[in-house]
Parts: sequence; C-alpha cells; structure tokens
Amino acid sequence: MRERIEKLTELVNSLKCKTDKEVEEMRVRLLGKKGEITLLFEEFRSVAPELKREFGQKLNLLKKDATAKIEELKAAAASTVKGAASAGDVTMPGEPHQLGSRHPVSIAREQIVKIFRKFGYDVAEGPEVEDDYHVFEALNFPPNHPARDMQDTFFVSTGHPNPLLLRTHTSSVQVRTMEKSKLPIRVICPGRVFRNEAISARAHCIFHQVEGLYIDEGVTFADLKQAILLFAREMFGPETKIRMRPSYFPFTEPSAEVDVSCNICHGEGCNICKGTGWLEIMGCGMVDPNVLEASGIDSKKYSGFAFGMGIERIAMLKWQVNDLRHYFENDLRFLREFSTCVDV
Ligand code: DAH
Repeated sequence: MRERIEKLTELVNSLKCKTDKEVEEMRVRLLGKKGEITLLFEEFRSVAPELKREFGQKLNLLKKDATAKIEELKAAAASTVKGAASAGDVTMPGEPHQLGSRHPVSIAREQIVKIFRKFGYDVAEGPEVEDDYHVFEALNFPPNHPARDMQDTFFVSTGHPNPLLLRTHTSSVQVRTMEKSKLPIRVICPGRVFRNEAISARAHCIFHQVEGLYIDEGVTFADLKQAILLFAREMFGPETKIRMRPSYFPFTEPSAEVDVSCNICHGEGCNICKGTGWLEIMGCGMVDPNVLEASGIDSKKYSGFAFGMGIERIAMLKWQVNDLRHYFENDLRFLREFSTCVDV
C-alpha cells in the first residue's frame, strides 16, 4: 500500500491536463467512485492497526493534494478556453489607446507665436542660464535694484562682477538679439523664466514669458498700441478693448501696463476681473535709449518698443484657470480639459 500511495503522490504532483475533458477524466480516475484513491480508502479499513496512523495521514494528504490539483487544472483549462475564444474573434474592437494632449501652456505659447508671426515677427531664443549683464545691466537696471537681490533671483555663481544666474525674464533675449541682428528687428522671444518666489495660486518659481521687440527708424508709441490691440483681439476675441496705464520699467521709457476688457463679463464687472471690467496682461514701453546704446544701436536714428507677458497669465485669463499651480501638477483631470482645444 505504501508503494501505491507514493506512486499516486508522484502522479498527482506531475499532473498536466490541457482540456476540461482531460481534467474530468483524471478526476474520475483518481477520485471517482471507483477511482484509485477512493479504492485505497476502502482498503485502508483492513490495514493492520499499527500501520493505520501512518497510512491514514498519507492517504488524507494524497486526497487533499489531488483535489486541489484537479481544481487548479480545471481553472487553468477554463481560462485557456476563454483566452482562445477572444483571441480568435477578429471582429472585436481593439483596446483604445488614450491619446495625450498638448499642455495648456504650450497651447497658449503656440497661439501667441502664431499671432505675432502673422504680424511679421521672427522667433528668437536665448539661454536660461544667463549672466547679470544680459538680464540686468544692459537693460538699465541700477546696480542696487531689488531684482538683483538673492531674494528674487536664483544665482548659479556669485563673487565676480558678472555672475551667472537663472534668467528672471525673457527681456534678456532682447539684448542678445540687438547685439547680433541687423536692423530693423522684429522678434518675439518665448521662454522659461525663474524667480525665487514662494509657490502660491498667483506665483511660482518657474513660469513662461513671451517678450516682444520692434526696432526701426521712426517707431512710435502709437505703433506699440496698435500691435498690442491687434494681438489682444486675435487672442481674446474681436470685441476686446485695451487700455494702458503708466508704469515703470528700467528698460523702457515711457512704460505702461496693458489691460484687456474682461472677456467673461465684457466690462460689466465680475469676480474674475474683481469688478473692474479689466484684466492686466502685460508690461510694455518704448525701449530706453540707454538700452539701445548699450547694444550698439544709434538711439538718435532708431527707436523701438518692447513688451513682455506671462504665458500662464494669458492662459489663465483665456480659460479661466484660477490657480497657477494647476499648470505644474500634471493632474490628468486638469490636462484633459484642454484635449479639444483648437488653434486660433
Ligand atoms: N520683463 C518684464 C517682467 O518680467 C516684463 C516687461 C515689461 C517686458 C515691459 C518688456 C517691457 O519688454 O517693455 O516683468
């Protein structure tokens, strides 16, 4: 009996069946009414009492293992059948691939670039790791201006007259363009900028700007106003109005801040425009003669205008996003809102 139990244990351990039918046949052979294991249980009744304990334990274990193995093979055979059936049905629709979509900041940047390209502007780029000269000095920032403070600017190297830093605005690309381009110049400079700010709904340490620069003979403030009005209408709709408020930037004189009429309430006053009917979109002005001269442009002969806007800000106003942090968190629920955005 011991030998037969051992043989059957081996058989159970190495059992392999492919189909439901084979499994059922094996179940009958081992555990059916006249199955080999069932018969062993019958024979067990007449086993000598001193062997009962040993054989009893072995038989019980064998039955348990055989039952478990049969169940396992049954389940495996069932899933193969199911798998074979679905693989075989070539008329079933495929698993859909979820398509990604462009990030709202990219969508806004592309729209801004497209509008200015239409007006004849080229696109210029410059380095994100810049030097003090191109970010501050050539733009007429006095040596002790607060923007040059460690609190506002991320420095990469310090301790020499022209330290490396992460650019705090894309106005630095103005300078690089003026240094190397032939006149007239008409460019926009989109790019990433960095400021040492605490992150909140309204401020972030990384964001994006588009800088604009137009230099030629006889460029006036009226040209600036017209360029911005045309841009605002393309970006926010043909009914959009603009207004300019006097402001100050070291690199422009005179300087202004530009508001567009609120595209939600159309000037009536709502919570987006805080009841004023206007939304601020950019800073601008006539390029300061000092800035032209610093880059070797004759300020007696040439004049120009510049403007700079935050891309996140434009996107927030266009799509009513109320928290800057959404742009950086990569929450798919937010990003998917823009999957159907169409170009201007
Ligand atoms: N560079 C300014 C900033 O980061 C924005 C700006 C204002 C750019 C006026 C300009 C300008 O070109 O004329 O806040």
